[in-house]
Formats: sequence, C-alpha cells, structure tokens
Amino acid sequence: MTEQRVISMETPFGTVEPVLGKLAKQDVVFMSRHGQDHATPPHLVNYRGNIWALRELGVRKVVATAAVGSLSPNYRLGELVLLDQFLDFTKSRPQTFYEGGQQGVLHVDMTEPYCSAVRKVITEASEHLGLVVKNGACYVCTEGPRFETPAEIRMFQHLGADLVGMTSVPEVVLARELGMCYASIGMVTNEAAGIADHPLSHAEVINSIKDLETNVAQLIQATLGLLTPGQKCLCASANAEVGKF
Ligand code: HPA
Repeated sequence: MTEQRVISMETPFGTVEPVLGKLAKQDVVFMSRHGQDHATPPHLVNYRGNIWALRELGVRKVVATAAVGSLSPNYRLGELVLLDQFLDFTKSRPQTFYEGGQQGVLHVDMTEPYCSAVRKVITEASEHLGLVVKNGACYVCTEGPRFETPAEIRMFQHLGADLVGMTSVPEVVLARELGMCYASIGMVTNEAAGIADHPLSHAEVINSIKDLETNVAQLIQATLGLLTPGQKCLCASANAEVGKF
C-alpha cells in the first residue's frame, strides 16, 4: 500500500483509526481489526465503529482476512479458504446498527452472508497468481478469547462447521446491514482443539499467519486489480426494506 496515512475518525460508536492509501491503483482503506498494536481481543473489537467508518469513507467492498482453526481434513494448515456460511456462537457483541426507534428494525437477509461476486473475483485473482484458494466453507464464530474445548469442536463438527475463528461475526453482518459487499479469506493457522496433537497457543496462530502473509497480501492486491465498481450481487440492497441511515 502506498501513500499511507492513518486518520482518526469519530463514529457514533467511538473513535477508530483507519489507514488510507493506494493499492493496485485503487483508493483503499485498511482497517486493523485488533488495533495497530494488536491490543484488542476479538470480543472487544469495535466492530460497529470499524464498519461504520468504512462505509462513511465510501467503501463498498470489503475483503477481510480471518485466522481460522480447521475442523476438517478438507482444510489443511497453511491453506486459504473463502468463507461462504457461518454459525454464530458469540455471546456479548452488539450485532446490529438498527436498534429500533428512529433507526427502525432490520431483519437483514443472510442467505448469502459472504458476497459471491467478490469471492469470484478473489478466485480469479488466485488463478492469475497460481495460488490455491478453496471457495466455500462454513465458519463457526466463537466468543473467545479462549480457544475451544475438544467437546465444543466435536459439537461444531456435528453442526456442519469446517473452520473456527473469533472475528467474522458480527463483522460480516454489520457490513451487510450497511449494504457493503463482504468477503473473507480464511487462513488456516492450526488444527482445532482436540484435533491437533498438542495444546493450542496464540504463538502458533501468529507464526502460521506470518507464513501466509505474503501470499495473502499478493492475493488482495491482485483482487483489487480485478475488482470493478459495478454490482453483480444483491449486497447493496440488503438493507432496502428499512433503508440506510
Ligand atoms: N479457534 C478459534 N479461533 C481461532 C483458531 C481456533 O482454533 N485459530 C485461529 N483463530
């Protein structure tokens, strides 16, 4: 990213600090979910502030990344996987911008939570780069910040989850509520608890992210080079029933 500058933005949900810049000749905003120094745990991320700020800055398409543990032999350590469904096991996070009253009540459609048009572009970008990126996996979002028990992982497997993480919900929901396309690149950093033959640690996740970081950065850059402003999906009208703020 070139021409980088950090700005401080006031939102109805507090101050956030997006980084503005250019990538693949496009104006982009980089939002560090956990803060610039990774000081914010998943359950305390200001999801509403972050997504609100992106929308205010004119962002219409979000390409997110998510560290994930694998629950299935179909998804191996070091692989990149585009999420297509989620199961929500979070407990304490504000999940909506529509709190009733003047804002109204929105029951946002979640038939296709992760934008299929943006996923298609990411897939095209991966083919140009010769990178293997699987398209479609069910992500279970846990509250964290603790890792799961093996019993929880067994339950999530029974429910159909492929990957586990702590951040995609409510982020994907909030983006949809504001009519933005949202896709997420899952980075398989570890086998989930009880599948791995060792205890899990944050260091393991961070080390795996480091190994994947260059490929993911290239993938995002190539994706931005292929993204066009047009709309081949229904994301922009996801809040049409109630309307925008
Ligand atoms: N569980 C929850 N979140 C995660 C994991 C995990 O195993 N790996 C990376 N993020």
